[in-house]
Amino acid sequence: MARSDDGQVVRLEDYRPTDFLIEHVEMRFELFENEALVETVSTLRRREGTDPASPLVLDGDALDFVSASVNGLDIAGDRLDVSPDRLRVALPEATAAQAVQLSVRTRLRPEDNTQLMGLYRTNGVWCTQCEAEGFRRITYFLDRPDVLATYRVRVEADRRAAPVLLSNGNPVEAGALGDDRHFAVWDDPFPKPSYLFALVAGDLDPIEERFRTRSGRDVRLTIYTEKGLSSRAGYAMDALKRSMVWDERRFGLEYDLDVFNIVAVGDFNMGAMENKGLNVFNHKYVLLDPDTATDGDYQGVETVIAHEYFHNWTGNRITCRDWFQLCLKEGLTVYRDQEFTSDERSRAVKRIASVHTLKSHQFPEDQGPLQHPVRPTRYREINNFYTATVYEKGAELVRMIATILGETRFRAGMDLYFARHDGDAATIEDFIRCFEEAGETDLSQFSRWYAQAGTPTLEVRESFADGRLTLDFSQSLAPGSAGTPTAPLVIPIRFGLVDRAGRDIEAVPEAGSAEVEGDVILLTEPRASVVFADLPERPLVSVLRGFSAPVTLLHAQAEADRLALARLDPDPFGRWRALTDLVGERLRDGAKAGGTEAGATDPAIAEALIASVEDGRLEPALRAQMMQLPGEAEIARLIGRDVDPERVHAVREAVLAQIARTGSERLSHVEATLGGDAGFSPDAASAGRRALRNALLLPLSLADGSPERAARRYRDADNMTDRLAALTVLAHVFPDSDLATQAVGSFFQRFEDDALVMDKWFLLLATVPRPDTLERVEALAQHPLFRLSNPNRARALIGGFATGNQRAFNRADGAGYRWVAEQLRRLDPVNPQTAARLATAFRSWRAFEPVRQGHARAALEDLAATPGLSRDLADIVVRSLN
Ligand code: PHE
Ligand code: ZN
Repeated sequence: MARSDDGQVVRLEDYRPTDFLIEHVEMRFELFENEALVETVSTLRRREGTDPASPLVLDGDALDFVSASVNGLDIAGDRLDVSPDRLRVALPEATAAQAVQLSVRTRLRPEDNTQLMGLYRTNGVWCTQCEAEGFRRITYFLDRPDVLATYRVRVEADRRAAPVLLSNGNPVEAGALGDDRHFAVWDDPFPKPSYLFALVAGDLDPIEERFRTRSGRDVRLTIYTEKGLSSRAGYAMDALKRSMVWDERRFGLEYDLDVFNIVAVGDFNMGAMENKGLNVFNHKYVLLDPDTATDGDYQGVETVIAHEYFHNWTGNRITCRDWFQLCLKEGLTVYRDQEFTSDERSRAVKRIASVHTLKSHQFPEDQGPLQHPVRPTRYREINNFYTATVYEKGAELVRMIATILGETRFRAGMDLYFARHDGDAATIEDFIRCFEEAGETDLSQFSRWYAQAGTPTLEVRESFADGRLTLDFSQSLAPGSAGTPTAPLVIPIRFGLVDRAGRDIEAVPEAGSAEVEGDVILLTEPRASVVFADLPERPLVSVLRGFSAPVTLLHAQAEADRLALARLDPDPFGRWRALTDLVGERLRDGAKAGGTEAGATDPAIAEALIASVEDGRLEPALRAQMMQLPGEAEIARLIGRDVDPERVHAVREAVLAQIARTGSERLSHVEATLGGDAGFSPDAASAGRRALRNALLLPLSLADGSPERAARRYRDADNMTDRLAALTVLAHVFPDSDLATQAVGSFFQRFEDDALVMDKWFLLLATVPRPDTLERVEALAQHPLFRLSNPNRARALIGGFATGNQRAFNRADGAGYRWVAEQLRRLDPVNPQTAARLATAFRSWRAFEPVRQGHARAALEDLAATPGLSRDLADIVVRSLN
């Protein structure tokens, strides 16, 4: 049963260290077909200076208690107070000098565990998930990140059901038991918090390689998959080795155990988990081949493999003192995986992709009822804080530190962090202090970014006279943003002054200007100015290059300048930003004006989009990104209030149609010069060419006014990237055509046994941009392959519909909201964490016009009134209504 809402709020200011320290943990797991028996022996002592009479209070969650003993003697009666959610024991014999051994036995039912937290089974495989508070579903424990212990784990199981037995650390012993059972013992010498505990047992296929670290240590790398799937793990292995090399080169960080194991499972709440020496992954982030996975999937696997590997230092060797510090490991590790991809692929393409993610996920979160600071100060349910703000904005804050300090001093700060805090459970303050000391700078004002929620606005005004360019900057925060009061932030603004030939001009700021360091202006006041003199002509002002701060930019810049920058800013990111912002504003204004004719279909905009696709100086991946129009949700965010999603859809369609009408010949020419690729290779350059070719398919099909081109592309495709791109045009643009119906059917028949591809199929159908998709989706929820209990499948259909289908989810009659709310009500008792995550689709409900708002509110209020709602889902629903 899910825990229901008990109304408890956890506060950062209430943090206290524990009275007891757990130094070492010995565990024994006996796995049987219908239950698992767990014995946990903790060696613990009292912390110096605490009340010698205080009892030990351990966390539990729905546990079935069997017995407990202290130093080998059974305890019961008045010393012990046990419930499914807590174990309290008087421990007078434990002192600072004298350790005691507490043994606790519990009985688990992994096969009934649908929440996928704690020990559960997925396709027969035993598997654990402990972050954030899952370990307490296995045994009673001080289940918090600042209690660090070494672990030795013995796993016993039937040899046929589970020939592979894994836990954290290094393997130390294995052997036979009677009755066809066997055991393995694992030892993890690195003290770790319980959330990094893991155990896996099952009939798994390995692929294996060796890696030699730069100091000469040999590591055995193994990726385990379910039977018959290991041929799809090769790219993940390759990405793992590249990640290990990169972390040595870029940050001087080596791997530290004899083995590194990864297990891929089909039922998993998140993407993957960084358990020490035993990462557990969602199938989606390990299994690939060209026939079933897209280039986006390849990129996703590379990113997540790197991310989890990098956690070994940023997360595991240095962990978090408490869950308020979650961004200490997540923001930093996202920053590291972004840098990895930038170095391995294209820096500009990666930066554009990251900014796109930030704007489409984090900005709406930060501008709606679920907003919270990167380091929150209170929560009801920590599972609900694995958010775009903690991850993506958290990474932006690290990136700003790197921008402010420069490469050398940033690296010195990182080095100091690893040297000083290895083995610690640290805080954001600890992290910042390392950069202050190594960088010899004061970051106290900068630290406000961690406490202040909301997207700041950065306003820029420029004026030019007599060879002098004046840039006036001001910053502000939306009133009512949660966090500490709106004191000015430190905003690093990377910039360039560009001449009409597309070259950066060297210019020196006049005395009295705001601080300028190289190409970065540091705005620390509510307003400040920078003046450049002796300029031969008025330059084009390219600000916020590389998106150097996570802000909303208001730059009153002439359209001609913006179009010129889109054409010739020497910084490719600058070109993209100039164009996307301009297009976004046009779509916003067009939708507000209400007509498909009004304003939006400006020929200059279509021309700029087409020209950027033609520009052979840009790599194909970038040209594909330039051509991407802001999505409907993004346009809605730009409008901000009183949104009518039908108008948003219409205006976007109008611009697409105009590009098709005026550009088809030129776009055909681009396609012809691109040519085709012989065979499939997942490398970045090939993927970029496919991305551009596939981006052209939509306008060219619109110009044809026929599904033929897409149907041909679908038939000829020799990889999933091209196949899915073609199928999307068929199903989304020509949904009523026979060709679309045939392709959707043949895709299903070909891939119905492949779960990851079926997720794509459900997602594709859930996102057909028409209001009547709701009826289709209702039917799909009854499809034999739909399984509410599988998070990937639930996300594909319900999440795809709620976040990827603006028209149908936000239907004027409210039926979209009611259907999603109904699915959440059904999912909640099965998997509250996934239900809560899907519920965040309602986060922008207040931006819509009053009728839709009324329906959304009613659906949320109905949900809130559901008896027995989990704490996870209740927390999201209640905050969304606030
Ligand atoms: N810590 C994981 C990651 O970022 C995410 C995760 C959180 C996984 C909670 C499972 C549960 O890599
Ligand atoms: Zn992470």
